[in-house]
Amino acid sequence: MQDFIKNLPKAELHLHIEGTFEPELLFEIAKRNQIGIPYATVEELRKAYQFDCLQDFLDIYYRGANALQTEQDFYDLTFAYLQKCNIQNVRHTEIMFDPQTHTDRGITFETVINGISRACDDAKKKFGITSLLIMSYLRHLSEEACFKTLEQSLPFKDKIKAVGLDSSEKGNPPSKFQRVFEASVKEGYIPLAHAGEEGSAEYVWEAIDLLGIKRIDHGNNSLQDPELVKEIIKRDLALTVCPLSNKALKVQEDLTKHPLKKMMDIGLKVTVNSDDPAYFGGQVNKNYEEIQKALNLSKEDLYVLARNSFEYSLLDQVTKEKYLKELETYYDKNK
Ligand code: ADE
Ligand code: ZN
Repeated sequence: MQDFIKNLPKAELHLHIEGTFEPELLFEIAKRNQIGIPYATVEELRKAYQFDCLQDFLDIYYRGANALQTEQDFYDLTFAYLQKCNIQNVRHTEIMFDPQTHTDRGITFETVINGISRACDDAKKKFGITSLLIMSYLRHLSEEACFKTLEQSLPFKDKIKAVGLDSSEKGNPPSKFQRVFEASVKEGYIPLAHAGEEGSAEYVWEAIDLLGIKRIDHGNNSLQDPELVKEIIKRDLALTVCPLSNKALKVQEDLTKHPLKKMMDIGLKVTVNSDDPAYFGGQVNKNYEEIQKALNLSKEDLYVLARNSFEYSLLDQVTKEKYLKELETYYDKNK
């Protein structure tokens, strides 16, 4: 199974670039920017990655991101992730970035986007990996702050495919961002959002009804409401599920009780993703491996998950079909 997963062509649809910041690279970049870290070694820092909930994680994640200062830092971070994609046969990736985490520290929007997108261009040339960028609004910040970010993004519109909504979910419902999402859609961005990770099914309803999202990041708590499940299926919205993230943030205590297979069985379109791989113990292939073992998934299940990852990507139809053909050929030879 491990080899089958390793070589399976796949797309990653839920990935925060700031969450790929491995302790080794964090130390290296902090050193060159002369930024102090409250940990003596890489091992000590990695040991601090123990979380009881989403907020515990976010506090450490935002602190780590402070080391990123220059365009080259954003390039190095992104290129390191894309190199990992290459060895895992991730053929396409949709990368979220949190501009406010950086602009609030005085780093320009341009520095962030140019570093990330230059790495994506190089990975396309070097590895043939395609990528799209998702600009995520931080939901613990105000509507006004998000409008400002939308404004800052406009000169770089050609590099950004979609908008997302992330950070502390509880107490920050999608309704708070209805107007900024409407304005973002008018500018041509596709609306996406985290919903139902720690928040209730009600938050997922708001995300689909008020924000009009085209894909649900996480969505686990949708299962609390059978009417909502029916609606998600009717609207053909996929869920970007992140098993190791769910385990690390105690959204799911134990992977053997993870609802991924149940979701598939009741007709939801599910994909497997790593979310913040540097913090949650594994890249996307590790997520496939661990959930396969925990739920005893078949090769056909894994094939369906990979197929969903291309079908529910934001790629144009021609590129999607190219990847789907590649996947079909692989599955026919290896099933
Ligand atoms: N930002 C990075 N990872 C996140 C997650 N899993 N949920 C919400 N915001 C995030
Ligand atoms: Zn996420």
